[in-house]
Amino acid sequence: MATRFTVKGLRASIEGKEILKGIDIDIRGGEIHAIMGPNGTGKSTLASALMGHPKYEVTEGEVLLDGENLLEMEVDERARAGLFLAMQYPSEITGVTNADFLRSAINARRGEGNEISLIKFIRQLEAKMKELEMNPEFAHRYLNEGFSGGEKKRNEILQMMMLEPKIVILDEVDSGLDIDALKIVASGVNSMRSEDRGFLIITHYQRLLNYIKPDFVHVMMQGRIVKSGGPELAERLEAEGYDWIKEELGIVDETVGQA
Ligand SMILES: Nc1ncnc2c1ncn2[C@@H]1O[C@H](COP(=O)(O)OP(=O)(O)OP(=O)(O)O)[C@@H](O)[C@H]1O
Ligand SMILES: [Mg+2]
Repeated sequence: MATRFTVKGLRASIEGKEILKGIDIDIRGGEIHAIMGPNGTGKSTLASALMGHPKYEVTEGEVLLDGENLLEMEVDERARAGLFLAMQYPSEITGVTNADFLRSAINARRGEGNEISLIKFIRQLEAKMKELEMNPEFAHRYLNEGFSGGEKKRNEILQMMMLEPKIVILDEVDSGLDIDALKIVASGVNSMRSEDRGFLIITHYQRLLNYIKPDFVHVMMQGRIVKSGGPELAERLEAEGYDWIKEELGIVDETVGQA
């Protein structure tokens, strides 16, 4: 069955404050959707709410991955179902090496009795790290501890490549990357494009979308998707900024959650 990820009328709050005010997204396997939008408009909140971050209370709406209701699942169950999030600010975990973390994550996804063999795991890990031009020593360092900004982002892509999720959400995976790293990360993403995998890529910059060609571009303001289009929308935003959309829609303050 082809992958299908559907978000319908999603509303979510934090500490009683509503941040997401009805989000609709429909991603089919093979598609890349980009979300752009000014700071503080709810993009990362959307990513966290989809992944099931306990801080965000979903008050309304539906999130379905291949017919399964993700909103009834815990974070780990969503991951097992095939959802992956590369966070804007990845956490550091002392005491757990990158390799150990990856192997447990892969095995959790594969399920009991179907664990990956150590040899196969190491072979895959080495191959993917090579593809991402990562120093092999990163396998044995504690997860993200002391990693530079760009190293963390590259590591998120490594996780994505190892876990082979069905739906990939990347939150500003391009922020802090130098030009060469940007190309490497983009080619990692492109190598994972397939008919049974969909992508939701949050970014501020059209530049990333030169390397990862989106099928759809959505603009978020005030906790909603206020405009959607093709790659040309991202190009127009790069050239003209967001004022024309605000004028078109009569939006004065595009942010969400301000008192
Ligand atoms: N845990 C939280 N506690 C309080 N406010 C929050 C929390 N999470 C999000 N918010 C508020 O929700 C609003 C949207 O935040 P969000 O991180 O989703 O924005 P964003 O679109 O990702 O912005 P940026 O482009 O700067 O990353 C902000 O005003 C933010 O302060
Ligand atoms: Mg954000």
